[in-house]
Order: sequence, then structure tokens, then C-alpha cells
Amino acid sequence: MPQEIVFRMGVPIVNASGQEVGSLEKLIFLETEKKITEIVVRDLSGLKRVPLTQVVDITPHSIRLTPSGSLADFPVFDISHFEEVPLWFYPPDFRIEVGSLMTLKPQDIRLLGESEALSRRDFMARSTALVATMIGISLVVPIGGYVLAAAKTKLSEHWVTLPVTLDKLPVDEPVAHTFNAVSVSGWMRVPVVRTVWLIRHTGSSDPASEPEDLKLNLDSSLEKKYSSPFLTVFSPVCPHLGCSPQWFADQKLFICPCHHSIYKLNGERIGGPAPRPMDTLPVRLGKGGSIHVLYEEFQVGVPQKIRLA
Ligand code: FES
Repeated sequence: MPQEIVFRMGVPIVNASGQEVGSLEKLIFLETEKKITEIVVRDLSGLKRVPLTQVVDITPHSIRLTPSGSLADFPVFDISHFEEVPLWFYPPDFRIEVGSLMTLKPQDIRLLGESEALSRRDFMARSTALVATMIGISLVVPIGGYVLAAAKTKLSEHWVTLPVTLDKLPVDEPVAHTFNAVSVSGWMRVPVVRTVWLIRHTGSSDPASEPEDLKLNLDSSLEKKYSSPFLTVFSPVCPHLGCSPQWFADQKLFICPCHHSIYKLNGERIGGPAPRPMDTLPVRLGKGGSIHVLYEEFQVGVPQKIRLA
């Protein structure tokens, strides 16, 4: 079990000789390590990031630094490189007494430093261009056949009948359902395992469950035509950059682990960088409550719901 530590904002920070040198301002939670790695201390010159390794003792009344932990040695901290994390978003086995505490996490690319990030981007751009050129050359011959075959593939071929019926689903409680499928892309047929989120409702009198993208008129005529007041089917793909939001039953929220986009039961985005709600998929209910889903993929990172071919 990890050590349980109580943090309170404003607790005095003392040096090795017991002299008060600042106060606790915030915590830094490093997502990649799934733990708090630094504290943010306010002293007369501003905010300082202090690694937890420089802390020897934490009591409800003070946090003591190591003899080598002189605040003057730490550079002033630019807080704009960090973003707030909801108070409850901690690993399940790490308990923190929150009070008025706020927690920060580094924003992805800025953590690298601008120059390193730029040089990485430059390297990635050149590598991508080179690889794209090579792939382009190797595809010159088959590409014509691919385009012709792709044009013949009908979207209606992608309807899937799920091995579950409506009455077996809990009401207003998302259930992830996985099924085997064949990804058809032109002349290629690749077996894949896919997941959809199924949410059963009591009916159209249930406004909280009306899918947000329907309300915002993001759905195409296909998604509008094949929808049901009794069942919403969400794509498992986060509209931000394509990760997989998970349902947290205790919070009654979908949360994406990658950049913390947060969605309500109806897919409405209430936090994070995602540019639109969760994407609904077309659904038909058949005899005996059988469930037929049309699996679609949409462009990520844009506010519109643009179906990929
Ligand atoms: S991919 Fe989901 S929040 Fe970024």
C-alpha cells in the first residue's frame, strides 16, 4: 500500500531548521507515473515547484524540506504550463484529504519544453513525409483497384446484430458491448474486435438521456433515421483524439483517460478538450428487442460529426 499523506492548501513549508519559508499552494500529479511527484510552494518571489523527494516530513501543521531543499534554488514556476485536474480524479488506491486543495497536471507537449517539442515535431514531420512518399510509390499500381472496390462497398453491409436484447440491459447504466467484426476497406477484409456503449432508457420522456449530438443537430440523416428513444449507442472512440472514454458509475460520467474529456450520460461534453459530444451510432430495434447497430467511425478533433468512409 502506498503511504497515505494528507495535504492541505496553505500549510506552512519549513526548512530543515524549522523556519517558515513559504506555504503549500498546489500539488502536481504526474499522469504518466500515476502519482503526485511535486508540490507547488508559494514564497515571497512567487511559486516554486519542489520535488516530493525534497520533503522529509508532512504533518497536519507543516511540511518540512530536506537540508538541501532551499527554496531559493528552485526556479519560479510558470503555472500556465499546467492544467487543473478534477479533485476526484486520482488513482483508486491513492487517498487524499482534499479540503480546498487543487491539483495540477502537466499539459502534454509543453512539459517537453518548446524547443524540444518543436524539434520533435520537425523530426516527426520529416519522417512522416518520407514514409508517406514510400507508401505512395508502393501503392501506385493497386490504388486504382482499391478505389473501384471501395466505391462498391455499401455502408449497409456494416450492420451488426448484437447477441444481447434490450430487456437484458440495465436502465440508464452504460454497458460496453464487444463483438467480432470484419473491417471492410476496399479489397481488404480484416477481422477486428469492436466495442460500443449501450444505454437503455425508459423512453422519449427521458430528456436527460436524449443524446447530446442529436440535440445539437450533429447527427446525419442516417443517424437520425436509425435511432430509438429506448436505446442510445455510443461509439467507443473519444472525439478528441481517439482514445476510449470509460464509464465511472460512481461519478455517473464518461471520462477519457488520455486528456480527461468528461461526458455526461447523454454524451454531453462537460470538461476537457474534446470538440463535440460523444458520437451516437445508428441503431435499430428488432423483434424481441434484438439490437442492430451500424458501426461508423468519425473524424476526431473537429466539432462536426464527419463520417469516415
Ligand atoms: S483522446 Fe479523449 S480526451 Fe483526448
